[in-house]
Amino acid sequence: MPNQEASFLEGVPAIEADGLAVRFPVRGGVLGKVKDYFTAVDGVSFTLSQGKILSVVGESGCGKSTLVKSLVGLVPLASGSVKLFGREVHEGKVAMDGGKAMRVCDLVQMVFQDPFSSLNPRQTVSEILTAPLMARKVSFEQAQRRACELLERVSIPVGAMEKFPHEFSGGQRQRLCIARSLMVSPKILLCDEVTSALDVSVQAQILHLLDDLRRDLGLSILFISHDMQVVRAISDDVLVMYFGKVVERGVADEVLTNPQHDYTKKLLSCVPTIRR
Ligand SMILES: Nc1ncnc2c1ncn2[C@@H]1O[C@H](COP(=O)(O)OP(=O)(O)OP(=O)(O)O)[C@@H](O)[C@H]1O
Ligand SMILES: [Mg+2]
Repeated sequence: MPNQEASFLEGVPAIEADGLAVRFPVRGGVLGKVKDYFTAVDGVSFTLSQGKILSVVGESGCGKSTLVKSLVGLVPLASGSVKLFGREVHEGKVAMDGGKAMRVCDLVQMVFQDPFSSLNPRQTVSEILTAPLMARKVSFEQAQRRACELLERVSIPVGAMEKFPHEFSGGQRQRLCIARSLMVSPKILLCDEVTSALDVSVQAQILHLLDDLRRDLGLSILFISHDMQVVRAISDDVLVMYFGKVVERGVADEVLTNPQHDYTKKLLSCVPTIRR
């Protein structure tokens, strides 16, 4: 089973990101030549401590998802470096090779916003959950056992193994996505707007589940959201992004109660309320 034998230095941050920058080419003209570069992430540094939840907040388009993708090599870094548990895995301009990408995937898993499109509609829960372990040459029986354990962990009845994704509610599908991400026993979860597609009561269940997983499995979680209420409920620390840059950071309670930067103040004042 991946990560079972790995030893992790106590006290070393789960993620240390230093000066991350991501640039996308802007093309133009008849031949679609690169005319310029757009900087989506601009010199972002942060530390995610082991067993903690760090939230990244900011308005739509400020670079949150791009930042997360750059950590696992889904978009190339223009500069900067990423250390996982003290080990350098990613340095600007050097693409990750297949082996390194696989080792990073064993440590870091992503859960996405849309639980509807994240699951293959033609596969049963059993096929979806066992696939990551089968790809790592774990036997089918072992993979099935782990899938059952994790279904129980995310409160889905084990009888669901032969069902298809369309037979579940949105909240249950997100639980399935979380269970799948846990199959390889990762140490870090990157959660990109995982509650945005869910209604408020289901959001609360998913937040509780993530917090339980953090406590019970010692997971470190990078939590992306633009919903300040959700961030307040779940985070230890918070990072505020604006146009690709970090404008404020600190302990979540302090930043959200007593924001120093004008942009954070504006974000907090945008929390919608219902007037009657
Ligand atoms: N593959 C890409 N090619 C070109 N530009 C991109 C690409 N991916 C993202 N961008 C641009 O980078 C910027 C940041 O996008 P990103 O998806 O990181 O924002 P976000 O903060 O996650 O927004 P949201 O809250 O809406 O999910 C946007 O202006 C987007 O158009
Ligand atoms: Mg996004």
